[in-house]
This record gives sequence, structure tokens and C-alpha cells, in this order.
Amino acid sequence: MKVFHNITALQAFLNASTSVGFVPTMGSLHQGHLSLIKNAIAQNDTVVVSIYVNPTQFDNSADLEKYPRDLTQDVALIETLGSNKIVVFAPSTQEIYNTNITSKPYNFDGLEHQMEGKFRAGHFDGVGTIVKKLFDIVKPQKAYFGEKDFQQLQIIKKLVEKEQLNIKIIPCSIFRENDGLAMSSRNQRLTKVHREVAPFIYKTLQEAKKQFGTKSATKVTTWVYQQFESNPLLDLEYFTIANEANLKTVVRKQKNAKYRAFIAVFAEEIRLIDNIEL
Ligand code: PAJ
Repeated sequence: MKVFHNITALQAFLNASTSVGFVPTMGSLHQGHLSLIKNAIAQNDTVVVSIYVNPTQFDNSADLEKYPRDLTQDVALIETLGSNKIVVFAPSTQEIYNTNITSKPYNFDGLEHQMEGKFRAGHFDGVGTIVKKLFDIVKPQKAYFGEKDFQQLQIIKKLVEKEQLNIKIIPCSIFRENDGLAMSSRNQRLTKVHREVAPFIYKTLQEAKKQFGTKSATKVTTWVYQQFESNPLLDLEYFTIANEANLKTVVRKQKNAKYRAFIAVFAEEIRLIDNIEL
């Protein structure tokens, strides 16, 4: 499999491709990432998987430092798909940012102020900056994003709309472990006990979904907070039921609106997020 580190070489190669699908990642790949890549293989002649841990989207330098990086292992995992359509783009920070490692401030019509945006300062400016840079380099027709990071997915759709980019954003469903825990590169950093209790997050989301059929969002939210109070190993950062379109917390349920429950939990210093369609 071809691995490019350099923009010019990647672009020279992509010149000959008729349709390019793009899967941006930060590496430390797992089956969740592979499910995005499989969708891209089914719909494009060439698939670019970028692997780059983007410094500008981390608000916590320890998290950035500890983010797992292993390009050889990532490439080996992609090779298990046995597709000759895939190329990897693994640039250096110098290649992407030169010496100016900063993010551009974005206005995503308020999407950036909800949930993750409240708790991770500057995160979505960093995401917008890197994804726009990568889109400009790869120039894909389609790009694939996981619903695992639902807010990010909505923000990328907004980026495409605002910057009038001719790219179709394809949402991909959340890939889970057998016990329900949403796959994440951070799961491998969990201690044994925390890994054992972590499925509690998705179980609670499923129960919240059930309750939302008959109860108000406030009642369900209070119930979720109570569940986590009695679970000393998991520290709830937020749980909220929000409208999918604007990500604002629901005050009163409306017909025809689509809702989703969103959660962020700390297992010691490991931060896990998940969400469920209601
Ligand atoms: P990363 O966390 O590596 O995720 C890359 C893509 O894989 C994202 O679209 C994410 O939503 C998706 N993904 C991760 N776990 C998933 C799961 N369990 N099921 C389905 N999809 C999953 O998200 C990023 O990187 C970065 O912010 C990035 C967009 C690459 C910009 O730096």
C-alpha cells in the first residue's frame, strides 16, 4: 500500500483518479475507522485515509502527548481489508502547518458552542482548520465521518455549506465492541476495571432512549445523572438530549424534530463520548 508523507507526491498520484473518497483520521485505527474505509471503498475508485494527530484540536497537552501513534500498525490494519484502492496520507506537522501551528476561528452558526465546544475550548476551530486543509489537499468528491463524533459530523457539514465546497459528507454509524462500548482509540488506555465498567455508558443511553418515549427530557436527564452518581468509577461530564439539527438542549419535545442523547464521561483521566438516536 502506498503511504505518502508529502502533499505534492500525493496530489501527483491522485491526478489520475476519477473519484476520490476521503477518510480523515488521527490513526490508532480500529474497526470503527475500518467501517468508514469500507464504505469509502464501496463508493469510490480511490480512497485516501489520512493519519495525522492534529495538535490544534487538543485543548489538553497531556492528551495530545499521550495520543497513541503507530503508523506501521495502522497500515497493517488497513491492509487486512485487501483493497488496492487505498492510499495513506501521513503528513508531518511541518507539511501541514509549516511553522504556523494555529487554528482559524470559525463560525459554525452556534453548533460549536454546544456540548464538546463548551468543554473543550477551541476544539472545533482546530477540527475545522485541519479538515479544511485536508480537503484542499485531497480534493475528494466524498468524505466519510462517524456518528460517534456526531457534533463534529454536523460541524463538517456546516463547513462544507459555508465554504461552498463540492464535497458530499457521508455519515457512518457508530461501531461498537460486543459489550456496547463505542470503539475509540482512547479505549486502549483504560485500566482493566475501567474497561469493565465502561459499557455502563451505552447501557444508560439505551435506557434513556426507552424512557424518552414516555418521559420529558428533563426527567430522563435527571435519571441519568443519578445513575452516574452511584457509579464511582465513572465521572459524568455532561448528558444532554438535543435537537440533531442545531444541537441545542431540548426544552419541550416537538413533533417532526429529531433528537439525540449525548454523553461525555471520564474514566479516570480518559474521556469517553457516545451518543444515541432517540
Ligand atoms: P478520529 O478520532 O481518529 O476519528 C476519525 C473518524 O472515525 C471520525 O469521523 C470518527 O467519528 C470516526 N470514528 C471513530 N470511532 C468510531 C466508531 N466507533 N464508529 C464509527 N466511526 C468512528 O475524528 C477525528 O479523528 C479527527 O477529529 C479528524 C476528523 C481526523 C480531524 O483531525
